[in-house]
Amino acid sequence: MSKTSVLLVGAAGETGGSIANGLLEDGRFEVYALVRPVSAHKPAVARLQERGVQIRKCDLKASEEELIEALADIEVVISCVGPAEQHDQIPLAKAAKRTGVKRFVPCGFITVAPPGGVMWLRDEKEIVYNQIRQLWLPYTIVDVGWWYQLAYPRLTSGRVDYAMTSGNDEIIGDGNTPTALTDLRDIGRYMARIILDPRTLNKMVLAYNAVSTQNKIYDLMEEISEEKVERLYVPEETIWSRVLAARQASETYPFDPIKFIPRYLAEYQLSWGIRGDNNPEYAKYLGYLTSQELYPDFKPADFRQYLEAVVRGTATGVYTDRVISRKHQRHFPRTESSDSLYTRIFPRTESSDSLMSR
Ligand SMILES: NC(=O)c1ccc[n+]([C@@H]2O[C@H](COP(=O)([O-])OP(=O)(O)OC[C@H]3O[C@@H](n4cnc5c(N)ncnc54)[C@H](OP(=O)(O)O)[C@@H]3O)[C@@H](O)[C@H]2O)c1
Repeated sequence: MSKTSVLLVGAAGETGGSIANGLLEDGRFEVYALVRPVSAHKPAVARLQERGVQIRKCDLKASEEELIEALADIEVVISCVGPAEQHDQIPLAKAAKRTGVKRFVPCGFITVAPPGGVMWLRDEKEIVYNQIRQLWLPYTIVDVGWWYQLAYPRLTSGRVDYAMTSGNDEIIGDGNTPTALTDLRDIGRYMARIILDPRTLNKMVLAYNAVSTQNKIYDLMEEISEEKVERLYVPEETIWSRVLAARQASETYPFDPIKFIPRYLAEYQLSWGIRGDNNPEYAKYLGYLTSQELYPDFKPADFRQYLEAVVRGTATGVYTDRVISRKHQRHFPRTESSDSLYTRIFPRTESSDSLMSR
């Protein structure tokens, strides 16, 4: 059987890296990566090439002709770009329509949330989804819940800091809101199934491994580490104040992605922590198919075993190669817990190379 050709946008990033792994390990795909020329020399790109990924040098901001060239012979497109780059996918979708791409997977990969004013980030993605539907381009939207890698709290001893992107030291509301969790490393394994599955065409899918609450995650961390973890509960009113303040502060144009970061962090807390949007039952109500119903035989990575590896010191952190520019650092209030979050997680508003050279 001939292999399905897949063009991956963001293959050198976290979600894209997981998907590259999943597709390569599956073996049924010929994997191409759309890499912007400025990033072509990055070690992560060389590592992809060594593993058989074919590189197509092109920026999402390139001309339609160049995008069409990058899409030659591609059957499936999967896009995994950062929060500030969502609209940049629209020209690629238009080019994909022209080249006859059979399935376009725009960048979802977030927690479940309803469109229409709850989460700015969801609404940014929704603008792209609507463009795709207006093009009558075959698509699949995939969301994944919270990554395991971002869902556990810091230990006072500091022994899990090596794997963390932030202190993650707040429990939202009463901490009993169920939330869907997925191991980042499983996203690619799910994608290998989803993009060949006729049942998922023109549908939304929630690919998730488990459902838990923050209180249960803290309990598990305490049990595994044998350390007491301080529980800092943040009441609903505080979350709402954060959301309103961040929304007011971000209402400036032209669009400044840096001002939107505090907004979408606060809106995430509102959505999954207070409203309880990020759970499979609500996803089904919104029209999602779920991985557990589609693929009952899928063996996801176990959350407890993942936390055991974190505590043992053998887990791999995320965003460990990121450096933020001094210019961007000035925009954030610096606290112990926000420091590493902002230095690792959100530097992608520009190519990391240009950030390094400032
Ligand atoms: N569910 C969760 O817990 C969770 C957590 C984090 C993120 N997410 C979601 O996952 C999505 C992907 O985030 P991520 O953190 O995995 O991304 P990431 O690691 O920041 O990677 C983004 C990738 O997009 C590429 N890119 C950006 N602009 C481009 C352009 N103009 N042309 C070509 N490539 C471009 C970047 O390439 P360069 O190498 O050139 O910079 C990079 O490889 C986000 O939209 C976010 O909503 C979900």
